[in-house]
Parts: sequence; C-alpha cells; structure tokens
Amino acid sequence: MEEKVILEDRQGEALIMEGNGANGRKLYLESYGCAMNFSDSEIVASILQKEGFTTTRNVEEADLVMLNTCSIREKAEATVRKRLQLFKKQKLTNPGLIVGILGCMAERMKETLLEEEKLVDIVVGPDAYRDLPSLIKQVDGGQKAVNVLLSRDETYADISPIKLGGNGVTAFISITRGCDNMCSFCVVPFTRGRERSRNPLSIVAEARQLFDEGYREVTLLGQNVDSYRWNISKKGEIEDPNIPTTNFAQLLEMVALVHPDLRVRFSTSHPKDMTDDVLHTMAKYENICKYIHLPVQSGNTEVLKKMNRGYTREWYDERMKAIKRIMPDCAISTDVITGFCGETEEQHQDTLSLMREVRYDYAYMFFYSERPKTLAERKFEDDIPLEVKKRRLAEVIEIQNANSLYRLEQQVGKEYKILIEGPSRKYPEEQLCGRNSQNAMVVIPKGPYPKGSYVNVYIESCTGATLFGKVID
Ligand code: SAH
Ligand code: SF4
Ligand code: F3S
Repeated sequence: MEEKVILEDRQGEALIMEGNGANGRKLYLESYGCAMNFSDSEIVASILQKEGFTTTRNVEEADLVMLNTCSIREKAEATVRKRLQLFKKQKLTNPGLIVGILGCMAERMKETLLEEEKLVDIVVGPDAYRDLPSLIKQVDGGQKAVNVLLSRDETYADISPIKLGGNGVTAFISITRGCDNMCSFCVVPFTRGRERSRNPLSIVAEARQLFDEGYREVTLLGQNVDSYRWNISKKGEIEDPNIPTTNFAQLLEMVALVHPDLRVRFSTSHPKDMTDDVLHTMAKYENICKYIHLPVQSGNTEVLKKMNRGYTREWYDERMKAIKRIMPDCAISTDVITGFCGETEEQHQDTLSLMREVRYDYAYMFFYSERPKTLAERKFEDDIPLEVKKRRLAEVIEIQNANSLYRLEQQVGKEYKILIEGPSRKYPEEQLCGRNSQNAMVVIPKGPYPKGSYVNVYIESCTGATLFGKVID
C-alpha cells in the first residue's frame, strides 16, 4: 500500500527560476514534504537569486544541488537518502559540485549527514535560510557549513518568494511557522520549532501582489492555522495597545477583501482550535472556498488522548456538525493514522465507523511511523506489527475510496463555478481543468477559457477522483 503525502504529485519536483546569472552558477532545487516546504523553497530561491544563481532542471549541469526535505515519516527520509547517495556518486565525476540539505530532515539530523555519512556539504534548517549565502561562501572556502538554529521570530515576512514551477493561478502564502502542539506521534515541533505568526499586513500585501500578477487563488498555510494570532499573547492578552490585534478569522476576512475574484483557501485547521467565528467568516464571503481540511487522526477518544490531540471523538463530531450547520455545502477532508502505539482492533473499528459516518470528500491516510525524539517514541511501544498497520490502512482506504466516489456523485447534476487552472493532465490537447469551491477537480472540453478565468460548469459525470462537465451560461 502506497503512503500518500500532501502534494505527492509534486514530490521531488525540480524548481525553475529566471535569474540575472550574475555569478554564472546553477542551482538545482528539489522539494519534498508538505506545502509549507514548497513555500519555503520559493523563499530559498529568492535568497539565492539575489546571490546571482540561476536554476536548472538538469541536475547534471548543476553547481549547487539543494534538497528541501521532510521527516514526517520514515519513508520520506528514505527517499531523500537515496537521492543523496546518487548525488554522492555524481560528485566523483564533478568534484566541484556542492550538495546541500535543507528543511526538516536537515534540522533533525543536524551534523550527522555531514560528518558521519559524508553525504552533504551544507546543512541548513528551516529558520536559517537567510544564512545560505554565507554558508555557501564557507563551502567555497573549502569548509563544511551548518546552521540549524531555530528561531522564535523568523517568518521571512519581508522576503518576496519566487513562484516556481506552478500554474500561475494558485499560490501558497505561509502565515505561521512552527508548531506548539506536541502531538505525540509528530516530529514537526522538533524540526520547525516554536509557533510564530507572520505580520498580517505582509500577508495581505503578498496576496494583493499575487492578484496583480494574475494569480486567482491563495492558500494560507500553517500547521495549525486556527492558532494564528498577531499582537495577542498566548494567554489571549493584547501585547501592544497601539496596533490592532488579528486572529485567524479576521486574517481570513482581510485576505478575502483583497478582491472578490481572489479565492482564498487555508490549511491546516485543528479540530481543537477551529472556531465558529472562522466558519461564519467562510460563510460570509463567496470567495473563501467551502472546503476544510480537518485532520482527525483517529476515531477513538482514548487513542486521541494518547496522541495528545486535545479533543475527543464527541468534540470532533460536534465540530463536523458545526461546519455542516453553518455551511451545508462545505467539503471536508482529513488525515488518518492507523496502527498507533497500542491501538486495539476495537479502537481501529472506531476510526472505520467515523469514516463511514462522516463520508469525507477526501483523506490522506498513513500507517504510523515512529519518529525519533517524539513523545510517543519515548513513552509508548511501537507495538502494532507492520502487516496489521498496513491491513488497517487498507481498510481505511477502502472506505475512503467509496466515500470520495459518493461525494463526487452527489455533485453530478449540479452547477459550480470553476477556476480554470490550465490543460488537463491526461488530455492536455482536448481538455481544461480547474477546481470548484469544494476543491473537487473538474474537467471540461477545451474552449476559449484562459487559465485564471472563472466559468460556470454543469457536472455531467464523475470517476472516483474527477468531475466531468460542460460550460453553461
Ligand atoms: N499540522 C497538521 C499535520 C501535519 S503532518 C495537523 O495537526 O493536522 C500531516 C499528517 O501526517 C498528519 O496529520 C498525520 O496524519 C501524518 N503524520 C504525522 N506524523 C506521523 C507519523 N509519525 N506517522 C504517520 N503519519 C504521521
Ligand atoms: Fe504535528 Fe500536531 Fe503540530 Fe500537526 S498540530 S504539526 S500533527 S504536532
Ligand atoms: Fe515534512 Fe517538515 Fe512539512 S516534516 S510534512 S516538511 S513541516
């Protein structure tokens, strides 16, 4: 059974940018992991472009190879290791080649990949990208270079990311970095550090700039977007009385007001923190997409407690009801982990029953992978055999496949406003594709609809992953 990773279709994608080429050197940048990592790669590209680097899609002609990595599951790290072995071989024929590792795996492994395994020349953690130019100089001078310092306030707010390899219509904007939640299975708090929010004015300015450049959809990113807060302390007190406070619902509204033709999405919501305020703001603005990613992880309260998620099954059920009450047409997706430490067959059945009840539009499903340093690694035994984890995962996936089909079938015969993203992947000569507000992929016959335009579509049929329709008007 294949694990799914957020944005898996973009895993390992090489990113391309134009540069002034002032230093004559070429960068090859490959990204793994979540949307936040891809967003960080755009910051890295921006920093290195200023240094005079151009990029290449061809690793053979690169002077500098950078991998922006993920540590969320063992498999994510194994993929990166294989790539690093390959680049190590390449160094034999091109001794001047510099290989760097960025992101979460860099933060987690620190000097190990450099000293013990001699796989890389540069190791840079997610909060140290401003230091890249000087680290590269250090390597040019014949040394190895490491900066894995985590920061309490770095948000890269002033760095204008370079949009790379995207469709020119949809873009990510990071609104928070780090995570303070300490879910017991999760490595993110260790690789990304403490949670901090970015200045709302810089977020709105970036959204406005993207709109002016022709983008028509932004996704606000954070590990827990609901805990976004500006000028509000963790205890809820105002920090500086001279400037306004901003919570996530207010930020969402500010971005929605940039332009009615700019769609706004966000990820990830946390069930323990998602407020009705956010739901009402979503309902109020047509351009805030009616789609919520609300990871549940498990349908059993005891397991949730062990996972340190901060909510019960009943609380989660109530949040689902609130979504449907306030926005009956809202689509919902989730993340699920099977085979967490000590998970009994009955507890697993609770996850299956939840999946059957909710009938999610979409789900990212994983079997548990123990991560070093996490609470679970220290406190619990990873005692569910791999075959059992995988069998449970297969059961979850089977239900979800039926759910996805059911939710798409419900949309057949209805009309939706679609944002055209470009040619369809399967038949680029004959079809266009785009998403509806609910985030379902819709394919239509080719017509005079440029990417970034909105069309009204009548849905005629579907498969388990795609809606097919025709333009009406
Ligand atoms: N901040 C988000 C999740 C980020 S990680 C949230 O709290 O929901 C994305 C997903 O990876 C998680 O939701 C979880 O389902 C999965 N995941 C995280 N750690 C994992 C682990 N150790 N093993 C398996 N899956 C894991
Ligand atoms: Fe990890 Fe939990 Fe933070 Fe999500 S909320 S990033 S699962 S610690
Ligand atoms: Fe992976 Fe780091 Fe994102 S561990 S999921 S790249 S925050």
